[in-house]
Amino acid sequence: MVSSKVLFLFALSTLALQISAFADSNEKNEENPGLVMNFYKGSCPQAEDIIKEQVKLLYKRHKNTAFSWLRNLFHDCAVESCDASLLLDSTKKELSEKETDRSFGLRNFRYLDTIKEAVERECPQVVSCADILVLSARDGIVALGGPQIPLKTGRRDGRKSRAQILEQYLPDHNESISVVLDRFSSMGINTPGLVALLGAHSVGRTHCVKLVHRLYPEVSPEINPDHVEHMLHKCPDAIPDPKAVQYVRNDRGTPMILDNNYYRNILDNKGLLIVDHLLATDPRTKPYVKKMAKSADYWSKEFSRAITILSENNPLTGTKGEIRKHCSVANKHHSSV
Ligand code: HEM
Ligand SMILES: *[C@@H]1O[C@H](CO)[C@@H](O)[C@H](O)[C@H]1NC(C)=O
Repeated sequence: MVSSKVLFLFALSTLALQISAFADSNEKNEENPGLVMNFYKGSCPQAEDIIKEQVKLLYKRHKNTAFSWLRNLFHDCAVESCDASLLLDSTKKELSEKETDRSFGLRNFRYLDTIKEAVERECPQVVSCADILVLSARDGIVALGGPQIPLKTGRRDGRKSRAQILEQYLPDHNESISVVLDRFSSMGINTPGLVALLGAHSVGRTHCVKLVHRLYPEVSPEINPDHVEHMLHKCPDAIPDPKAVQYVRNDRGTPMILDNNYYRNILDNKGLLIVDHLLATDPRTKPYVKKMAKSADYWSKEFSRAITILSENNPLTGTKGEIRKHCSVANKHHSSV
């Protein structure tokens, strides 16, 4: 009796050993593929179609949500890694990236949750928030009339927000071109790539708080006088009322279209941010600004190339990170995981 029990336990433990050895070798043989095209081909073949469909539906209802998807790509990927850390809410211990001054004006996160929910309904906890963030930006760019950019997937979600170090990565609205060039080049994005990416400021808006220092106490002589009147009309107070939501559209010509009109605006001294204005005047960037103002095709090619590099900045892949259940909470803080 005793011996048969021992035998049984022995058999059980060898089985367990075999299973764990199998799992181990499986993991070793299964090389981490990193980022690849159509990463979810086997695990959730409909993922990219669901995202595309949701982007189209949401864009129809809330046009400005596409601006947010595009801006999210910069604010997530440029801060160390494309790991959806941008989407995390503050916890008791940690302030979220979303709540810092550099993130001012970021909006529409709830529509990203809508996309995630649609994906979760089909494939629970398979598709990362980091990939949804990148793919919504890709499809949002198309909705806004920009280029179709094939992008890889396979990113995993980080567990921590990076509010403390965010300013080391994201330039301020009044940053010098030297600093901006440095920050982008450390991600592998060169001068024409940077110039092309700032073409994103061809859509969306800038709040008066980011502009009033160019208008008050006196108007900066660099701004086109034709534009000053409009800016003063939109931003009538030196200290904007934080509750009034006062802003100027980034591109008055084609505010809803992602095109190269931005470059003509900034050459015309109608750039809103100091950094936009500097881009058109600094000898390192001006030649590219001129070229992109002339050729939509050249801008579109450089923009696609730079978006691709940005979207592949230092991702978590393989077994690193996790697949978040809800994009705004790391799984360990989630009550039902
Ligand atoms: C030097 C780099 C950059 C600086 C300093 C910067 C700064 C800003 C600021 C201050 C705003 C206005 C926010 C507001 O008042 O609501 C803004 C808006 C925006 N930025 Fe940037 N940005 C930079 C690069 C980029 C890049 C690389 C992208 C995307 C590829 C991007 C996409 C956008 C978009 C789409 C908006 C409009 C958002 C909306 O209307 O909701 N920006 N940016
Ligand atoms: C940039 O603007 C901020 C306010 O938004 C200000 O605190 C900072 O001193 C300015 N930096 C430079 C270099 O002018």
